[in-house]
Amino acid sequence: MADSPLATIRGRVLAPSPRSRTIEQWPDALVEVAADGRIAALREAPPDCTRPVTWPGAVILPGLVDAHVHYPQTRILGSASGPLLPWLERSVFPEEARFADPGYAAAVAEEMCEAFIAQGTTLAAIYCSAHPGATEILLEAIERHGLRAVAGLALMDRSAPPPVLLPAAEALAACDDLHARWHGRDDGRIRLSMIPRFAISCTPELLRDAGLRSREHELLLQTHISENPDEIEHTLELFPGSRDYLGVYEDHGCVGPLTVLAHCIHLSEDEWSRLRAQDVAVAHCPDSNFFLGSGCMPLRKALELGLRVGLGTDVGAGRTFSLRRVAAAAYDASLLRGAMVGPEELLWLATRGGARALHQDDRLGCIAPGFDADLVAVDVPARLSGPALLDALLFRHDAGPVRATMVRGRVLRGEAPTLEPGPTPGPEPSRPA
Ligand code: GUN
Ligand code: FE
Repeated sequence: MADSPLATIRGRVLAPSPRSRTIEQWPDALVEVAADGRIAALREAPPDCTRPVTWPGAVILPGLVDAHVHYPQTRILGSASGPLLPWLERSVFPEEARFADPGYAAAVAEEMCEAFIAQGTTLAAIYCSAHPGATEILLEAIERHGLRAVAGLALMDRSAPPPVLLPAAEALAACDDLHARWHGRDDGRIRLSMIPRFAISCTPELLRDAGLRSREHELLLQTHISENPDEIEHTLELFPGSRDYLGVYEDHGCVGPLTVLAHCIHLSEDEWSRLRAQDVAVAHCPDSNFFLGSGCMPLRKALELGLRVGLGTDVGAGRTFSLRRVAAAAYDASLLRGAMVGPEELLWLATRGGARALHQDDRLGCIAPGFDADLVAVDVPARLSGPALLDALLFRHDAGPVRATMVRGRVLRGEAPTLEPGPTPGPEPSRPA
């Protein structure tokens, strides 16, 4: 039986297609949200509709998906000490050590959740530090704020200062404990993930056990790959038996459809074809790649291979929590690679693409009946439509802010739509009895 609508939202709607990288624009639509937080209907407002526009001047799109972000780097966002390896030493590891302190961890978890909501991010794939306590604090904050996350401990048992490491046995026990208590909470709003930080930070045993748990419990496995030439060289020194960087992860059971690889900048043709063969997802982090001087990932190539691709802020190498800004950086990077990816495809990647990369596309990334009402309202001048609207949404950094962020019909920030199912003129959509 269909639930009665919790709210009817009226406005300009940008509705991503389920599979093709296109966005359907509805100039004046009604989105009905049922009491269970799912979308019951999307239809054109009738000509005589008297319901006021819910957020005048705003467009409504699905919640943005951050496919790669680091919780303990929230406060070092913009710390300029790149490239990658010196930046990790100078900026990241000293900051991550502070997450041994629960008070510090709690304050930063609040800041991160507030930043997600302010930027319209409703789902994020989050690397924590190696501290189980801080990881739990982050999960509590995500739960309390009504956000979604697929998160986990950053697994690291070597190649960094002792305060940011955790021996493999302890780390895996903590993963098991967090998994048992948190995974799938609130109908899958919160999920656990295995996160061997990158091959350099993991002993072969830890990599192997992370891969094993990912497959055993069907957990996303997230890691970094091929971001920087010095990183690649050091990886191959540590794993001389593997044929290349991807081979290191393959040799330890870390590659498959549950794998999400961040960066993927300097992969060989052979590595790209193996990613495709194994249905691996890519987290494209262009703003971070610019800030650390890492290079430009060949986004068009990844798309043409048919890989699932999401966009990641990669805060704190990324300088923003805004997926709109990341989409703009992705545009710049695509031009530098000589193969443009335009705003329609980029907005699709920031919403539907992220949901697919994180295996949450059964319920997220579309505005259509049956999908969860994870919605964002963003100010865009009312005179704009068509391609100009998408250009303004993604490329005018001084343009309008996020007006409202909603998960399952619940407004996390901004003006709530009318919560009464007031009269909707015009024919009712047909509903199953
Ligand atoms: N490689 C390993 N750790 C990190 C990290 O924290 N950020 C980025 N950008 N790359 C990494
Ligand atoms: Fe990262």
